[in-house]
Amino acid sequence: MDLWQTWEEHRGRGCVKLDSFPPAQHAHLSRFQGQPVKMLEIGVLAGGSLEIWQKYLGPTATIVGADIAGLARQNAPDFKVHIGDQADADFLRKMVEKSGPFDIVIDDGGHTFDQQRTSFDVLYPLLNDGGVYIVEDVCTSYWDEFGGGVGAPASFVEYAKSKIDDLNADFVSDDAPNGFTRSTTSISFHQGMIAFEKHANEPTQYLLCQDGALSRKKMKYGLGWVD
Ligand SMILES: C[S@@+](CC[C@H](N)C(=O)[O-])C[C@H]1O[C@@H](n2cnc3c(N)ncnc32)[C@H](O)[C@@H]1O
Repeated sequence: MDLWQTWEEHRGRGCVKLDSFPPAQHAHLSRFQGQPVKMLEIGVLAGGSLEIWQKYLGPTATIVGADIAGLARQNAPDFKVHIGDQADADFLRKMVEKSGPFDIVIDDGGHTFDQQRTSFDVLYPLLNDGGVYIVEDVCTSYWDEFGGGVGAPASFVEYAKSKIDDLNADFVSDDAPNGFTRSTTSISFHQGMIAFEKHANEPTQYLLCQDGALSRKKMKYGLGWVD
């Protein structure tokens, strides 16, 4: 089932997201359908999105919510909901200890840069290998009332752009790769949303297909490889 269909068939509690999200999220999440995965969504509001995720991922998935408003528990009575501030690193770590580790994180909380960044910095390293971390509504990176604007240095979009250099650190120097490099295979920028695919990986090498044989060669920092 694709995520559009799940949205179209939903008759439960309320939910609001940008219409660019379902197809973009389906591309990152379809592999988890029917699997015993754990998803965390920060931002529960009326509780409808937790219901949609449960239907989309299936009964073997565990869907957990987090929200700063105590009302979220009443709005999502069928789900475990942690009450706390997504900008509080201790709250986030304790939540992972109690209900994680997670395979999927959806950040649809308060959408300020501090909240998005603290949640990402704490939760991404704790995400399971093979998982995906999605930050919704990065439109706030462009909005005055959030301190945003094109190229605004503190915005989450700018922070995510800086991660492109970590993703590509294998092409910089032997010393440049870090934990993010070795655990991330892609950063996808969608309209209003960013997805980080977390997969353990070895330093990138050239793949050579020559004379009917396949081999790998360590790159030079410049054209060519080390023989
Ligand atoms: C956009 S709504 C969530 C919508 C819901 N995910 C949906 O798709 O319908 C944002 C939610 O984030 C919560 N929130 C705001 N600031 C927060 C914070 N600092 N920590 C955790 N949750 C927060 C709000 O209480 C609100 O319920």
